[in-house]
Amino acid sequence: MSQKIRKFPKDFLWGAAVSSYQVEGGIDHCDWSEKFPAGRACDYYHKYEEYFDLAKELNQNVHRFSLEWSRIQPNEGKFDRKEIEHYRKILRALKKRRIKSMVTILHFTLPIWLSEKGGLHNARFPDYFESFTRFVTEELDDLVDFWVTINEPMVYLSLGYIEGRFPPQKKNLFLTPLVFINFVKAHKKAYKAIHSINSNAKVGTAQNYCFSEAYNKRSFVNMILVKISNFITNNFFSKFVIKYSDFIGVNYYFHNRIKFTPFSFPFVKIDNENKKVSDMNWEIFPKGLYFVLKDMKKYNKPVYITENGIADTKDEKRFEFIKDHLTWMHKAIKEGVDVRGYMYWSLFDNFEWDSGFAKKFGLIEIDYKNNLKAEIRRSAYDYAEICKNNSL
Ligand code: BGC
Repeated sequence: MSQKIRKFPKDFLWGAAVSSYQVEGGIDHCDWSEKFPAGRACDYYHKYEEYFDLAKELNQNVHRFSLEWSRIQPNEGKFDRKEIEHYRKILRALKKRRIKSMVTILHFTLPIWLSEKGGLHNARFPDYFESFTRFVTEELDDLVDFWVTINEPMVYLSLGYIEGRFPPQKKNLFLTPLVFINFVKAHKKAYKAIHSINSNAKVGTAQNYCFSEAYNKRSFVNMILVKISNFITNNFFSKFVIKYSDFIGVNYYFHNRIKFTPFSFPFVKIDNENKKVSDMNWEIFPKGLYFVLKDMKKYNKPVYITENGIADTKDEKRFEFIKDHLTWMHKAIKEGVDVRGYMYWSLFDNFEWDSGFAKKFGLIEIDYKNNLKAEIRRSAYDYAEICKNNSL
């Protein structure tokens, strides 16, 4: 693409995202704690002011973070006021710096008491989620700018119930419809609960969107498989919740080139070119963001990029990654998609779930061996220029 200046819409939001278990530290009451301990993580629980100062220095005006359910509701019948006060302090610290807040209610972690009852596949999960949502909304809503009910329901479902990598580590296809339905119900109930407390609240989900294309565009079966894949990953959940969404949150990391393999089970394979990959070995494919955004246009809702980022220890590819994705995002905006903000994943290095601390997504480097010393990476300064100028 050419070297012209690309302006973004007025009041565009620029920032980065984190989630509780990945950064806070000291969480020992959730379903991840025992098998995948994150220890003190990045000690965000105590150091959030320091991190927000860095975000401010990087010209960011929005911050996405999540609430840790196991802190706020450590037992079924008990809400912990001290922890609510803690999250109020975080929200006030953002307000003080004029950084808008996007608060995720559920980002992959459940309190132990709930996971022991079956968690997501307990038929009462939507009620538990509704009551938790109602409580946090009553306590925090005056300080919150955007609510995200559930982070990446389809990823939760596939990694937790099909691949068995994330808690509850099931490989049980039969449970997936129940979990899916529970997510839909939980979102709807939460949406209504938040709106009953504040009719002006902005409530959405953050879903993982993938751009799939056919390995062989002349193969009819291959093209059908791609349609199915794009529908299931990008549109299936939305079909049920879009009426109950004030905005669409897009997490974009993936492109899949799907190959039909008639002679080998399960007859499909992902076969990417992988010319450029991240440290996670994920193919870097910025144009996919454009296709995903264009597809979102039909829903006619504001869109926020709630996550987009790269694991890149050497910080050699990060800025190009950001710039290229923003270039394609800009093209989608020019073509009428109502994108209103971009949140890079992640503000700083953190606990990358079952990959541990080795994968470095951060704009800010964390030195785990040196008392969590935080150092801004070169790419972050370059991204900060875009945030400051609202142009690329
Ligand atoms: C999740 C984050 C995760 C990131 C990178 C997203 O799917 O929401 O929690 O760290 O991807 O894997």
